[in-house]
Amino acid sequence: MKILILGGDGYLGWPTAMDMAAKGHEVCVMDNYLRRNMAQETCSEALIPMPNLHERARIFAAESGKTIDVVIGDCADYRVLERVVRDFAPEALIHYAEQPSGPYSMRGFDEAKRTFDNNLGATFNVIWAVKEHVPDCHIIKLGTMGEYGTPNIDIEEGWLNVEHKGRQQKFLYPRQAGTLYHTTKVLDTDLLWFYVRTYGLRVTDLMQGPVYGLSTEQSDINQQLLPNFHYDDIFGTAVNRFLVQAVAGVPLTVYGKGGQTRGYLNIRDTLQCVSLAMETPVEKGKLRILNQFTEQFSVNELAERISRVGNAMGLNVTVESIDNPRKEPEEHYYNAIHSGLLDLGLEPHYMTDDVIASMLEQVMTYRDHIDVRKIMPRVRWK
Ligand SMILES: NC(=O)c1ccc[n+]([C@@H]2O[C@H](COP(=O)([O-])OP(=O)(O)OC[C@H]3O[C@@H](n4cnc5c(N)ncnc54)[C@H](O)[C@@H]3O)[C@@H](O)[C@H]2O)c1
Repeated sequence: MKILILGGDGYLGWPTAMDMAAKGHEVCVMDNYLRRNMAQETCSEALIPMPNLHERARIFAAESGKTIDVVIGDCADYRVLERVVRDFAPEALIHYAEQPSGPYSMRGFDEAKRTFDNNLGATFNVIWAVKEHVPDCHIIKLGTMGEYGTPNIDIEEGWLNVEHKGRQQKFLYPRQAGTLYHTTKVLDTDLLWFYVRTYGLRVTDLMQGPVYGLSTEQSDINQQLLPNFHYDDIFGTAVNRFLVQAVAGVPLTVYGKGGQTRGYLNIRDTLQCVSLAMETPVEKGKLRILNQFTEQFSVNELAERISRVGNAMGLNVTVESIDNPRKEPEEHYYNAIHSGLLDLGLEPHYMTDDVIASMLEQVMTYRDHIDVRKIMPRVRWK
């Protein structure tokens, strides 16, 4: 298939591009280095040095014999994106090209506006470029489990049947995000749903939980092919921060009571999920929503697991609760349905002790690059 990957330089975009190319698809990636620039602007550079996208594609081609076409350009600029979509004519378009950090979006007006304009602008342009030039193309859009928030009822897979005064209708599940970034993803879903039902596009919206891990079949070939690994308070996930704190010998910092529960998945499973979605295209005029995670834990459970494995490896790992910089429930009900991708054939890779140990070993290789000043919260919601 001809696959266009937007955000192809990112944590998920680059491994997806290699995976798809290795499977024999014709792959084009587009990115404007927004992530690299924001990381530099906020002193949040990745732990592991990354060659630029052209260089990554060259190294991958030398290792695998497979080509990945690279376009450096802004998806929020319609004329630029339109040209790529028209000329490449993808059969599937995987849309990762967004500003994905909650803390960045809560930093101040400029960051909030940049997040809003970029994310909504890119999604709006994707919709129009597909509608105008490749209306049969399957759009696979990365949403987030954060769209749902933490409601006091079970989270369904995208939709909820509502009975009101004796009548019934299926609606998008009510969403109440906790950051501006997550709210842009809610708005993305609403935009997609409007254009799907009005113009008959075909869209899969993958509500993904936090992803962890660096190791994929292709990234393991050469250290220079590893995805980005951020461990700071703005772009790093709790998993990445804890791994780096464990290696650096500073306490793992749990925000508040640590009962915040989320559904997580291994990066290998993101690749599987996106492939499964692509191999089972939805009908025209249908918005398919799938909850994309494999297991759920609280932040306290995560800290306990990483400290237990780290201590068994001879590291000196402790855990400390600090004042929560965010506005969020620290103890709550959480039960999210996630059977759709399992029904399509997903075979999960769970966060076992061996997986945690191998992530710690990878971080230990780059121990000298760690700057612990980047980890403590620099952005507060209040
Ligand atoms: N990584 C996770 O844990 C996770 C969890 C849930 C959802 N997601 C979603 O998955 C997608 C990818 O996330 P990621 O972790 O790979 O983030 P990332 O920041 O590493 O990758 C996104 C890439 O898109 C690029 N980009 C952003 N705006 C662009 C634009 N206007 N034009 C061209 N390129 C642009 C960035 O430069 C970056 O390389 C995002 O939409 C994110 O919301 C990620």
